[in-house]
Amino acid sequence: MRVTVLFRSTARTARVPAASCAVVVDVLRATTTLTVAFCHGATRVVPVATPEAAFALRAGGQEARLCGERDGRMIEGFDLGNSPFEYSVTEVRGRTLVYASTNGSLAILAAAPARRRLLAAFVNAAAAVDRLQGERDVVIVCAGKLGGFALEDAACAGLLCERLRQGGARLVGPSAQLARALAPCDGLQVRALVQGCSHGRYLRSLGAASARDVEFCAGLDTLDRAFEI
Ligand code: MLT
Repeated sequence: MRVTVLFRSTARTARVPAASCAVVVDVLRATTTLTVAFCHGATRVVPVATPEAAFALRAGGQEARLCGERDGRMIEGFDLGNSPFEYSVTEVRGRTLVYASTNGSLAILAAAPARRRLLAAFVNAAAAVDRLQGERDVVIVCAGKLGGFALEDAACAGLLCERLRQGGARLVGPSAQLARALAPCDGLQVRALVQGCSHGRYLRSLGAASARDVEFCAGLDTLDRAFEI
């Protein structure tokens, strides 16, 4: 298995080969939240780039819940924001979710050319590594922040790289090596990193509910499933 890493995912579709398995990482909060949504029975997630695109899908008759955020807050007119605690069984079981978040949904769209798209975060890192067994070409697509680098995503990519390397994978390119160097070695380091990174601090500044989200996203291997989108 060869593993490469993209630290930013602004529609660099060219760099996600069709034969590859893409692993999309947006620790705060998209891939954490969507993993919870699938664990609670959501049947389908439709990523879109903008809230307007989400409203247009609904206006076009798409039977779905509109989900996502801007500036970390729920979008007016949407059904759900981006807190993992909002995606309960009652809210999402058997439902299609049209999902518009600032960075995460763009990363999922950027990974579209890949043969498979897996959602990963710290909460389900072990489960994601299990689902990659047998793959030959893995591309870890970090959502980043507003087209830039996000430490929590790079570090999570690093943890995945290190675990895959221990399983015999070959890390290819400088980004994979840097990500591996950033990999936290235990749950305490994950927690310190996610709480201390810039988006973690921003979300905590929004209040207790968002601070609780950050704490949840800082869990390591707390969910035992990984989902494809
Ligand atoms: C994103 O997609 O940019 C994040 O998930 C935003 C957030 O949840 O704050």
